[in-house]
Amino acid sequence: MDRLLIDGGAVLSGELRASGAKNSALKMFAAALLADEPVTISNVPHLRDITTMIELLGSLGVEVVIDEKMNIEIHANTITSFKAPYELVKTMRASFNVLGPLLAHYGQAEVSLPGGCAIGPRPVDQHLRGLEALGARINMSDGYVRASADSGLKGGHVVFDFRTVGGTEHIMMAACLADGVTILENCAREPEIVDLASFLNKMGARVEGAGEDVISITGVESMGGCSHKVIADRVEAGTYLIAAAATGGKIKVKDINAMHLESVLDKLREAGASIKADHDSIELEMSGHRPKAVSLVTAPYPDYPTDLQAQIMALNCVAEGTGRITETIFENRFMHVHEMNRMGARIKLDSNNTSAVIEGVSCLKGAPVMANDLRASVSLVIAGLVADGQTIIDRIYHIDRGYEQIEEKLQNLGAQIKRLES
Ligand code: EPU
Repeated sequence: MDRLLIDGGAVLSGELRASGAKNSALKMFAAALLADEPVTISNVPHLRDITTMIELLGSLGVEVVIDEKMNIEIHANTITSFKAPYELVKTMRASFNVLGPLLAHYGQAEVSLPGGCAIGPRPVDQHLRGLEALGARINMSDGYVRASADSGLKGGHVVFDFRTVGGTEHIMMAACLADGVTILENCAREPEIVDLASFLNKMGARVEGAGEDVISITGVESMGGCSHKVIADRVEAGTYLIAAAATGGKIKVKDINAMHLESVLDKLREAGASIKADHDSIELEMSGHRPKAVSLVTAPYPDYPTDLQAQIMALNCVAEGTGRITETIFENRFMHVHEMNRMGARIKLDSNNTSAVIEGVSCLKGAPVMANDLRASVSLVIAGLVADGQTIIDRIYHIDRGYEQIEEKLQNLGAQIKRLES
């Protein structure tokens, strides 16, 4: 297994380009199953999760053509199977989202239940309730969801119990080919949902209100081909901005819409960063200062994202003062805490495992560390960058699921980091 070796102490400085958003692209691959003609998706990041999704489409008999620039052409009309097997769904939960599009287009689907994962149990009850509201018949046995809609899905009314990103996206996709109008209420409002809706509309769907509380979808009889460029990855961009702030550095991230990161930029300003931002770049400067501790609570967009919680905790570890971070989205998203404490951080978790109080120290100490989740793993990279001495991060296949060329991007910013191949 590959590892990352970091010699801490470098101050990050320079420019980088944000990659395309993994969490947008993955859903578009599922949505491509709705079309009768080929679709082309560009600005797709070169990541392990994307490869898994391509493998899943391949196992359904769908032809996928990839060029050297990661433009991906998907021909759903070559489909031969409607079954997404456990081996693929268990490695990546987003693959569960093929259920709705298969059902909407072909009237049948058999998709493995994803099961729990490192950051929490992550049920799919909202997805299944939504599909049932559109008239799907759903049976569960042997760990699989078997769904059918012999005469097609019908428009329906769904009020989500809470804001779910995957649930909102799943039912929005399925409703595109339903007969009649579907109204979704209490929807998640993440930029990736807006991007997915724009992709669906280019394929001929009639989706209105994505990015707001209520989404309405007027079903169409068929959907065609289109080309679409995936939006930039706000979580990747946010990760580099936090890393730069933690090291006292100065960086510019290009090709990123600053509006997608407002809650994060507010916290970075509070930490002492000066920030210049517009619709396609963000510049951050710490002028060599030690960051000030920040407190925050994670919550659905537009509030502070859970996917950038571990990274800002790494910044708090070396900040002046004490910060409190509360996680409200996932049950078990503090895996990085024990590893950071092994590096000399002073973090205390409350008894419910929902809040962490971080007392900043002047410096962390390098150590061998690892984590079982993407964002926890990358937060250890930030901890390694601000630590004295060497940090070796194991199990970096988690990082490879979500960060394209992380060591090259960080090297270009002046970090001392290299991959140790096994
Ligand atoms: N939930 C349920 N039932 C459901 C659906 C969700 O109880 O039917 C719970 C989840 O267990 C969780 C909460 O609701 O506790 C929110 O889950 P949500 O559905 O919003 O998350 P998701 O769609 O499973 C996506 C991203 C995550 C990101 C979350 C929250 C993708 C592929 N994943 O997950 O990204 O953390 O939204 O913003 O889009 C990551 O990139 O590292 C990552 C985990």
